[in-house]
Amino acid sequence: MTSPPSHLWLNALLQALQCVQSAWLSTLYALGVTGDSHGAPAWPWDVRIAGENLVIDVALARQFGGMLAAIAFALACVLLALFWRRAWRWLLATAVGALVLAPWPSPSLWLTAAVPTSFHTSPTGFTVQSISRGSRVYAAQCVACHGADGRGEGPLASTLHRWPPTMASALLSRRADGELFWHVLYGMRDDRGRTMPGFAGRLSDREIWAALDYMRVLSASAGMAAGGSWPVPIALPSLAVKCANGPTRNIAAWRGNQRVRVVAVDADHPPPFEDPRFLTLLVERNGPSPHQASGIRKVAAQRPERTPKANVTTLFGARADCVADDPEAWQVFAQIAGASPSSVAGTEWLADRDGWLRALAPAGRRGWADGGLMCTTSTVLPDGAQAALRADPLTATLRQMDDDPVRFVKGGFVH
Ligand code: HEC
Repeated sequence: MTSPPSHLWLNALLQALQCVQSAWLSTLYALGVTGDSHGAPAWPWDVRIAGENLVIDVALARQFGGMLAAIAFALACVLLALFWRRAWRWLLATAVGALVLAPWPSPSLWLTAAVPTSFHTSPTGFTVQSISRGSRVYAAQCVACHGADGRGEGPLASTLHRWPPTMASALLSRRADGELFWHVLYGMRDDRGRTMPGFAGRLSDREIWAALDYMRVLSASAGMAAGGSWPVPIALPSLAVKCANGPTRNIAAWRGNQRVRVVAVDADHPPPFEDPRFLTLLVERNGPSPHQASGIRKVAAQRPERTPKANVTTLFGARADCVADDPEAWQVFAQIAGASPSSVAGTEWLADRDGWLRALAPAGRRGWADGGLMCTTSTVLPDGAQAALRADPLTATLRQMDDDPVRFVKGGFVH
């Protein structure tokens, strides 16, 4: 996967730009300067700063950063001049000098078209329920053009003057959430006319956000089918989790500090042992009916001598017992793995501490293979990591995941 260099400063710049624009929007809304659109403050201008251009053109980002620094420096000089009267001439001359010497990249490069919902974020929480609802919306309204596999080759596609894009790409991550939403709501055009119809009046806002959630899953599975990996890291879907003796909780509570391993279990693939390196979430075939869930555990208990198919060292000897409390989780996770629901048992997924799915061990493959970690920015492992990889691929994968977090999320492009 080709990826822009992971400069930390670039990530910080993009995060800062996003924060400043959002804070500015909230202020305008609080002052009554702008109204709301589809449940959140409406961006009042038809342009915004194009984080997605800065992230793919580091030279432009550098010039843009230089311009901001020069403006900040000039302002600081002017402020200082107000208090330090004796030096005001020198300070103003320095301010003017900084502005003259600053790089001024063309605004057409760092500004892009915006819509009222540009800064909206999805309200769905990327839950399994929303993804499943989205799959029904997609099957009813979108599949004819975008195709069942999301590669833009549905039966209607060849009748359009522009083919729908393939989702086996980073497209959805490159666009702002709110702009995707707007495009589905009001359609898209090019200079030859309408390219995609709008769904305002036919679909509710909630259905559109759900369809976009589903399209992210579709993008993961289309990427798997096309190149054997996810085009970008996909978020671990949110769902209710039931652990042995505890109350039902949402998996989102684990986000932020815990790595999560998801394992698809059935009667032939018993739950693996707990592993202190991550929390383990079991997804059971046909959902967690009390009868079936206990059935699986009984099988596991009857055959303690059996080596678990999961690729995990037995450390504590206790089997994992936190189960996804959602009957549709099996289907959603199978699709993320690019596998059919009937062959996904035994598959494992790993999510990093920020809640991004990063690695996959498909069913039937023993151990996390070399390069099992997807979406890394560094292609060469340091010597220590190479040695660790030979000794224990899973530990190496976890190390690499921690050392190379998902970046540029706010810039509109991951990695
Ligand atoms: C009549 C065919 C057609 C249907 C039906 C259709 N699309 Fe599209 N879609 C397209 C085409 C063509 C494009 C590319 C448009 C362009 O780039 O100008 C597109 C682009 C998109 C994009 C990318 C938007 C972007 O910002 O680049 C998304 C997301 C999308 N469609 C979602 C949907 C969803 C969700 C549905 C169903 C609710 C749907 N589409 C139904 C034809 C269709």
